[in-house]
Amino acid sequence: MFKQLMEEASAKAKSSIMLALDLEEAKPAGLLSRSLKILEATHPYLCALKLNRQTVLPLGLFQGAKKIVDKAHGYGLPVIMDAKINDIGNTNRIIAENYFKAGFDAVIASPFVGWEEGLQPVFETAQKLGRGVILLVYMSHKSASEGYGQLVQNPKTRELEPQYTIFAQKALTWGADGAVVGATYPEKIREIHGILGEKVPIYSPGIGAQGGDVAAAVEVGARYLIVGRAIFQAKASAEAAKCFRDEAQKRR
Ligand code: C5P
Repeated sequence: MFKQLMEEASAKAKSSIMLALDLEEAKPAGLLSRSLKILEATHPYLCALKLNRQTVLPLGLFQGAKKIVDKAHGYGLPVIMDAKINDIGNTNRIIAENYFKAGFDAVIASPFVGWEEGLQPVFETAQKLGRGVILLVYMSHKSASEGYGQLVQNPKTRELEPQYTIFAQKALTWGADGAVVGATYPEKIREIHGILGEKVPIYSPGIGAQGGDVAAAVEVGARYLIVGRAIFQAKASAEAAKCFRDEAQKRR
């Protein structure tokens, strides 16, 4: 259901750009008003919005964060909570329930905790409520290789394999609605897209501020591009969002 929601929002906006609204402001009131202002300016060029804990913490989930979620929904944008859920199952379930209650359409979760008593309750909660779960498969930062890139023994084949290819297979077997793979590693996008095909769309952060490039990511299989600072720190955020949108559309 969430996969379809994203497809429809993307087709309607003719955009694959998801804004990561991660502003830094000293006071919550300023953070909320600036976040709403940037969303208002950039929404015509977006297919979705992503919030992070750095925004939800100072604003409060059911206070300020929900106002942003509601405004995005008013523009027809699905909203993803980048919670990187990573605890025991019971805690994970309650975390996910709260985000869904606040209106988020999907949560991002970390596959390191595994299925049973790990992410299974998150997938079950999402399914019950018609929401989505997106899995981290390879992160965008410099030391991503220390966790996602380590060689581990595949319990099925007994062969050594990179952690991220095992996570990509889990995304398929667990029925994930998306996989996050950093745009800073296009070769990893290509390899992971080879495993996922069109069944699990790739969401790619790290465009611009972290050095990733729209064209390089789209050409190797990224479906959605997550862009934060390169849009909201630009002098003209709407113009920046439009440029990313146009560039991605040209490459698809
Ligand atoms: O500002 P920038 O475009 O670098 O923001 C990227 C966003 O995507 C941030 O919210 C960051 O937490 C998130 N993200 C990431 N790499 C991942 C997963 C999420 O950069 N692998």
